[in-house]
Amino acid sequence: MHEHCVIGGIGEPSARGYAIRIYKKHDKISGVIGMLNTRQKIILVDDNMSNLAIGKNMLKTFYEVYPVPSAAKLFECLERFVPDLILLDIEMPDIDGYDAIKLLKNTPEYADVPVIFLTAKSDEGSELKGLNLGATDYVSKPFSAPLLLKRIETHLLIASQRKELKKHNDRLQAAVSIKTKQITALENSVLNIVAELVEFRDSVTGGHVTRTQRYLQCLIEKLLEENLYTNDVLGWDIDFLLPSAQLHDVGKIAISDAILNKPGKLTDEEFERIKAHVPIGVDAIERIEENTEEHEFLRHAKIIAGTHHEKWDGSGYPLGLSGINIPLEGRLMAIADVYDALISERPYKPPLSIEQAEEIMEQGRGSHFDPALIDIFHMVSGQFADIVNFYKDGVSMIIRPTGEQVAAFA
Ligand SMILES: [Fe+2]
Repeated sequence: MHEHCVIGGIGEPSARGYAIRIYKKHDKISGVIGMLNTRQKIILVDDNMSNLAIGKNMLKTFYEVYPVPSAAKLFECLERFVPDLILLDIEMPDIDGYDAIKLLKNTPEYADVPVIFLTAKSDEGSELKGLNLGATDYVSKPFSAPLLLKRIETHLLIASQRKELKKHNDRLQAAVSIKTKQITALENSVLNIVAELVEFRDSVTGGHVTRTQRYLQCLIEKLLEENLYTNDVLGWDIDFLLPSAQLHDVGKIAISDAILNKPGKLTDEEFERIKAHVPIGVDAIERIEENTEEHEFLRHAKIIAGTHHEKWDGSGYPLGLSGINIPLEGRLMAIADVYDALISERPYKPPLSIEQAEEIMEQGRGSHFDPALIDIFHMVSGQFADIVNFYKDGVSMIIRPTGEQVAAFA
């Protein structure tokens, strides 16, 4: 039976790289099976063959050198691997060094590879031109071996430090991004819970929060299809707007159960109290805003909570805004909110049929609701009815900011 072998261990460095050894069982070295080439790769580009030979001889002890006679060959070579450094002659037929470096710097895969120009030219102007095009350094021909090696060593060190720094920054950015997501998720779940609690207090309206978000989604999708209020809608981040709608009645948390669940007609004083849920909700959202960097979700939430009881003819509350002075989010929420109230059972009324609800919505055209949005409502009223049927029986699903739906209090 064959003994088990494992590959392991990297031997001492040599001019060719590092040996990979095979270890037999019990760690006994069996032999070298190959070389792990860890040496840095340099492409040397020069149309003069003797320069290529001299350059290769100078560098081959320390680096893996790939001599190529033209810029065209350089790019062929780059298709196979990305070197650690390029030594580039300036004066070459066809593509000269300046054009070659422009191509290199405009290609993201190679843009960070340090390029040292090799040139017989030593005038200031040509050096400046090369450096302006992105060359790392200049070395004059004929080469001085110690100087060339020192320059290469320095630039490889700088490039590797830059790579390390970039890796470090990428790691930091990734860590910050994960942390931000965690914090946002935590903030959003707290907000979800608040919305769920508001809805849960008013047990007969189970599913209201979910359904109103769904109605809003239908209305917004239809607006886009019909090219209506497109400028407003395209400026929104729907992934934030839809979940933010669940906070529209968050101010109800401060309204007493006796008023919220009163079976009979409200007195004027009680109605004033109910109306207070709007400024209370806005105030609560503003207080959250003060303590967070997140604004998109809360910006929509505040607009919706603050304007969903305004009416097109100016007879709504709390500000008595009219027409398009009412933010579109508020005009849309008014439709979603009232429609859902109509089809739902409330302590003071039985649920209306879908047909009755649609009729009452139509009666509100131009008085309660934006007439253009009532047209949109009729276009999607079938979808509204489907939503009513889907989320009936008090099943309450919450749409998280991630788009995920989760049961709240079924
Ligand atoms: Fe409300």
